[in-house]
Amino acid sequence: MYKSLFSKTFEHLGDKLPFQAHSHHFWPDVALEGINQYWNDSTGLIDDKWDKIFSEVIPKAQSLVAKMLELDSPKQVVFGNNTHELTYRFLTSFKFENLRILTTDSEFYSLDRQLRRLKEENIHIHALTIEDGSSAIIKEQLLKQIEEFKPNILIFSQCFFNSGYYISQEDLESIVSSIDPNIEILIDGYHSFATRPISLKSICHRAYFTSGGYKYAMSGEGVCFLVTPMNSNLRPRFTGWMAEIEKLGNMETQEVFYPKGASRFLGSTFDPSGLYRFNAVWTELSNRSITLDTIHQHVKSLQKRFLTSFTESDFFSGCKLLISDPNKHAHFFAIDCQSHERAEIIFNSLKTKKILCDKRKSIIRFGFSIYQELCDIDELFNRLSTK
Ligand SMILES: Cc1ncc(COP(=O)(O)O)c(C=O)c1O
Repeated sequence: MYKSLFSKTFEHLGDKLPFQAHSHHFWPDVALEGINQYWNDSTGLIDDKWDKIFSEVIPKAQSLVAKMLELDSPKQVVFGNNTHELTYRFLTSFKFENLRILTTDSEFYSLDRQLRRLKEENIHIHALTIEDGSSAIIKEQLLKQIEEFKPNILIFSQCFFNSGYYISQEDLESIVSSIDPNIEILIDGYHSFATRPISLKSICHRAYFTSGGYKYAMSGEGVCFLVTPMNSNLRPRFTGWMAEIEKLGNMETQEVFYPKGASRFLGSTFDPSGLYRFNAVWTELSNRSITLDTIHQHVKSLQKRFLTSFTESDFFSGCKLLISDPNKHAHFFAIDCQSHERAEIIFNSLKTKKILCDKRKSIIRFGFSIYQELCDIDELFNRLSTK
C-alpha cells in the first residue's frame, strides 16, 4: 500500500526481501525533491543559501521534530551530523575530572566506544547490565545504581539496539521523574523516534534526547538532532561558531556567548542536505495523512503476522526471540541464535535466500517498515521453508 512511495529503491531491489529497516530505512522517492531543492538553493542563492537555511529550512525541520515528539518549543531542537557529535558535545559541557557517568551495557557502539575511551582518561563510568526486558526492573536497577554510584550524568537508550526492548512512554516518564534533578539525563532515541507517537512533553524540561534520520525517519545520514530543555545552561567546550551566529555582527566581545535553547549546541559549517530530505519526506507523509500512528499500526500488523509464522517455522529452531510482547518491543525483532557460530550459519543461509537483515554477535535482527506488506512476511517464511 505504501510501497509505491519508495518506487525508486524497489526498482533496484530485484528479488531481494528487505528486513533491515531497523538499520537503515529506504528513502521515499520524495527525498529527491529535497535534494533538488538543496541543489537549486546552492546554485541559485550561493552563499545567501544560509539565510534561507537558518530562516526556513532549520525552523521547518525543528517544527517537524517538535511535533513528532510533542515538545514545548521547536527551539528545543538542534541538528548535527550524527548522534555521536551531539552526545560528545553534551559531554564536553562537564568538567571531566569530576565526571561520573552511569549508562547501560546495551548502548550502541558509538556511545560505547566513546565512553570506553573516556574511561581511559579516568572518567568514572559504570555500565549497568540490562538483565531483563522489564522496565520495572530497569527502573529499579537504575535507581539502585544511582544510589550506589552517584553519577552526575545518566545516558541510556529508550529502545535497546541489541534486544529491541522498548521502554514505554509511561515507564520512561516514571524513570525520568524518579531521578535526582541534579543528574543530567540523555536518552538515546534512535530506535524509538519516528516508530510511533511519542510525547516528551512531561520530560523535555528535564531530559536531553537524541536521534537521527538514518533509520525510521527515512531521511538518510547527516540529519541527527538533540532535544534540550529550553532552559539548558550547559556550555559545551566542543563548540562552533554557529552557536554564536546571532552575535556575529558584534564580534568584539571576548566572552563566549551561548544562546538560549538548543542552538547553544550548534557546531560549525555543515552539510544541510539531510535537513532538506527530512523536510521533504515528513511534509509528504503529512500531506498524505500518514501519521506516526499509521506507521506504528502498520508495523504492528506485520510483526503480528511474523510472530504467527515464526512459531510455526522450524528454520530458527533452538533460537530465542528475545522480546515478543507487542507493548515492549521495537520495530525490529531480535532472535538470539545462542552462539556466534550458529548465528553465522543462519545468517549465511538467509543471505543465500536473498533475505536482507543483520547480525550482531549471536543475534539476528529483522526490521519492519511501511514499505513492507503482509505478503512480504509470507514470502519470507516461504523462502525459509524451502531448502
Ligand atoms: C541506539 C543507536 N544510537 C545511535 C546510533 C547511531 O550512532 P551515530 O549517530 O553516532 O552514528 C545507532 C545506529 O545504529 C543506534 O542503533
